[in-house]
Amino acid sequence: MCPSCCFYDPETGKEDPSKNGVCSNFLCDSKPGDKVQVTGPSGKVMLLPEDDPKATHIMIATGTGVAPYRGYLRRMFMEDIPTYHFNGLAWLFLGVANTDSLLYDDEFSSYLDKYPDNFRYDRALSREQKNRNGGKMYVQDKIEEYSDEIFKLLDKGAHIYFCGLRGMMPGIQETLKRVAEERGESWDEKLSQLKKNKQWHVEVY
Ligand code: A2P
Repeated sequence: MCPSCCFYDPETGKEDPSKNGVCSNFLCDSKPGDKVQVTGPSGKVMLLPEDDPKATHIMIATGTGVAPYRGYLRRMFMEDIPTYHFNGLAWLFLGVANTDSLLYDDEFSSYLDKYPDNFRYDRALSREQKNRNGGKMYVQDKIEEYSDEIFKLLDKGAHIYFCGLRGMMPGIQETLKRVAEERGESWDEKLSQLKKNKQWHVEVY
């Protein structure tokens, strides 16, 4: 174990071994010459399409499902890539239990400061905020809040991604179906069109 891959609680300043990175510590403890087996990437569904740097990417995450988006956002806003100068819109919806469990919040907030025209960031804090029916605030409630904009963006070709708890998908689908019906559209048709156009990306577990 070394300080750079151990987790220190920012409030207490103490090490919290339960949050140490398994992979980073494994690599840190390995010696020069050790053989390391690497696999992946597996599946293409969550690869960031880089063919259009002006595209819109709507990213929905619960908890650790934020991982792929952290990679996308670093690629869009931090890395210097000759073939990909992102100038579209990335919109992250992150659902976690409370403020303390927000992941990479500083990193995402810094993109908001630096790239206000290219990044939006909405948080659903299930155990701190209430939805409009007085229930827990989940990502689908945030989707509903912005449904008008989201549907317009999808109609213009936006990509939408879902990553995190498998259990979030039925609630999200119900919300999208309800919104589509309120707009006089058929969700089943819209969904099959989104899938056909490769705009719909789901990786849940
Ligand atoms: P909660 O646990 O308060 O019900 P986790 O930390 O377990 O990965 O969860 C991440 C976030 O996803 C939490 O805010 C959790 O809320 C929320 N969540 C749990 N079930 C669902 C669901 N069916 N749809 C959307 N969000 C959910």
